[in-house]
Amino acid sequence: MSDWTTYSKEELLELKAETQKRYDEYKAKGLKLDLSRGKPGSDVLDLSNGLLGALDTYKSENGTDIRNYGVPTGLPEAKKLFSDLLGIPAANLIVGGNSSLTHMYNVFAFLHLFGPKGFAPWSKQKVKILCPCPGYDRHFTLTDDFGAEMVVVPLKEDGPDMDLVEKLAAEDESVKGIWIIPLYSNPTGGIISSEKAKRLASMKTAAKDFRIFWDNAYGVHHIWEKNTAPDILKLTAEAGNADRAYYFFSTSKINFPGGGIGLVAASEENVAELAAHYAKATIGFDKIIQLKTVKFFGNADGIVAHMERIAELLRPRFDHVLGTLHKEFSGTGLLTWTPPKGGYFVSVDTLPGCAKAVVALAKDAGVVLTGAGATYPHKADPNDSNIRIAPTYPDLDELEETMELLVLCIKLVSIDKLLEV
Ligand SMILES: Cc1ncc(COP(=O)(O)O)c(C=O)c1O
Repeated sequence: MSDWTTYSKEELLELKAETQKRYDEYKAKGLKLDLSRGKPGSDVLDLSNGLLGALDTYKSENGTDIRNYGVPTGLPEAKKLFSDLLGIPAANLIVGGNSSLTHMYNVFAFLHLFGPKGFAPWSKQKVKILCPCPGYDRHFTLTDDFGAEMVVVPLKEDGPDMDLVEKLAAEDESVKGIWIIPLYSNPTGGIISSEKAKRLASMKTAAKDFRIFWDNAYGVHHIWEKNTAPDILKLTAEAGNADRAYYFFSTSKINFPGGGIGLVAASEENVAELAAHYAKATIGFDKIIQLKTVKFFGNADGIVAHMERIAELLRPRFDHVLGTLHKEFSGTGLLTWTPPKGGYFVSVDTLPGCAKAVVALAKDAGVVLTGAGATYPHKADPNDSNIRIAPTYPDLDELEETMELLVLCIKLVSIDKLLEV
């Protein structure tokens, strides 16, 4: 396709009239579609319905009555399931609760209130957290909730700009941590390289209590091919920084979002410390869902097979989004994107200064997109260009309609931007 940025004013006006007409036709349809949040569609949820009735016993393998209090860091068979799936020793796991984000919040709260063992509470100091961007909005709102300053670092295809990360961490002792989504990052779908993970694990930090918040939310969410995240707990231990990383995971996009199991993994010392704090917050997580999950999947291979079934449902949706972007925008100079390697999102960048207007225009025609800027702290995308597309929720028909409209919105706003020049 030819480069629209080279078109004359007359050509642009002609394209505008044509595109506007098609947009108005869509608007008249009164669509009500949602491409905003990364949630599974009902076809994906249906794959896990068997979990609801999966219990044929209320005894854990160690004889625990799962209906009662106790076993605060997780049933042994649930720990084994995730240990085998993620390659993390059971001794390094706390399995329980329905949300990994809650574990992230709690870990942050413990650090804030009490500090890591042997260190001052973070609440008593200036705290800066490195935020590779574009990133996950809830990491940012969580960090902001504790009053920590968020420092944006560019996210490349293979992880954050490590030269900058190393410099900031080495120079400033208020730089206390970094958010990382290692596999199929939200929203770019990229994977951190082993080399970058190693640098994170071993880099010199001015803060002796620097922490990596390693959110492996999409750790088994392959779409076209299987990849694995570097083993951050092993890398930090090998580098003599065993306490540096907290690892988070959940079954939210494996079975039921908010109705599954969350977990946090860390060094044995960190796990002991976290477990001691958790002991004051709960007399035990829900073990019924833990046993149901074990019974439903059987073992780690059962989860892998389940994820293959999910991938079969998601692949056509992602292929459609990527195919549309390629067909409509390749060579136009209007939009850039890197196809995700897996996960839940497609991240695109418009011409500078267009993202907010595209989202607003789509909303006027009944299509909700993730708010422009959401992929940056304080919703402040310096270029106003990043838009996160979440294709997992709508069915294919709805997705086709939504993408057609999105294409028109991007074109209309881009034409206006080009006409300004
Ligand atoms: C990167 C990332 N982490 C965590 C979560 C939330 O996970 P949970 O439901 O386990 O709290 C999401 C959900 O969208 C996510 O994208």
